[in-house]
Amino acid sequence: MPYIQLNSGRFHYRERGSGPLAVFVHGFPLDSTMWLDQLRGLSDVRRCVAIDLAGSGRSDPIADEALTMERHAGDVADLIESLGEVQADVIALSMGGYVALALWEYHHPLVRSLALVDTRAGADNDAGRAKRDVMAIKTLVQGRQQLGHDMVGALLGPEAKLQAKARLRSMIEATPYETIVASIEGMKQRPDRTAVLSTITVPTVVVVGEHDAVTPPAEAEAMATTINNAKLEVVRGAGHMSPIEQPAAVGAILGAHFAQVDTPDAG
Ligand code: MLT
Repeated sequence: MPYIQLNSGRFHYRERGSGPLAVFVHGFPLDSTMWLDQLRGLSDVRRCVAIDLAGSGRSDPIADEALTMERHAGDVADLIESLGEVQADVIALSMGGYVALALWEYHHPLVRSLALVDTRAGADNDAGRAKRDVMAIKTLVQGRQQLGHDMVGALLGPEAKLQAKARLRSMIEATPYETIVASIEGMKQRPDRTAVLSTITVPTVVVVGEHDAVTPPAEAEAMATTINNAKLEVVRGAGHMSPIEQPAAVGAILGAHFAQVDTPDAG
C-alpha cells in the first residue's frame, strides 16, 4: 500500500488503475476503504487514488485540537501535486465534500471536476454545533462502539445490507478518538460555503441517497441548482452512505460523469 510524505505528515492512500487522476475523499469518521468498490469499478478510466485524511486509516496520527476543512484541503492539494499531476477529478463524501469545497475555494486550478456526494455547503447552526459537542463527549464516555451503533442507525437507509453496516462500523471503530474529536471540532468551525458554489466552473455532479437523512435530497437539489450546469443524481435505495450502500449505482454515475469530463460535447 502506498505511503507519501506531504508537508503536514505521512499519508497513506489506495491506488488503482491508470489514466487521469481521480482523488476520492472520505467522510467522518471514516477512511479510504469506503471507496473500495469505486476504485475497482473505475480503474479502467482513471488513476483512482483514495486518501486516508490526516489522523484516519493508516495515515499519521494527529495531535491537533481541530482538523479543519482547510487543513485537509491543503493536504489533498499537496497530494495531487506530489503525485506529479496538475489536476484531479475530486470525488468527496459528506465531510469530504466540505473539504472539496475548501479545495475549490483555495486551490481550484488543481480541480478538473467535482463529484459532491451526500454533502452540503452550509455551516452548522448553533443546534448543530451543540449536537456535535454531545457526540464528542458521548463518544469519549461510552466509546466508539456506541458511536458506531448510533451512526449505523443515522447514516444508512432502510435497505442497507449487513455488509454495508459492517463496513461502516469497522471504519468508525478503527478511527482514533483524537481524530474523532478533532474532526468534530473542525466541522463545527467550518464556514458557510454556499457562496462558493456559484464560483464553480468545472463539471460537477451532485449525488445523494434517496433516504439520506443527514444531507437530504432537497439540500442536494439546492446545491445542484446553484452550481453552474451541475447534474443532480439521486441514488435509489441509499441513505447517507450511497457509495457503500449502492456501490454499482454510484460507480455508474461516476463513470458517466468522467465520460462527460473527457468529452464535454458528447452528451
Ligand atoms: C459525514 O458523513 O462525513 C458526516 O456525517 C458529516 C457531518 O457530520 O456533517
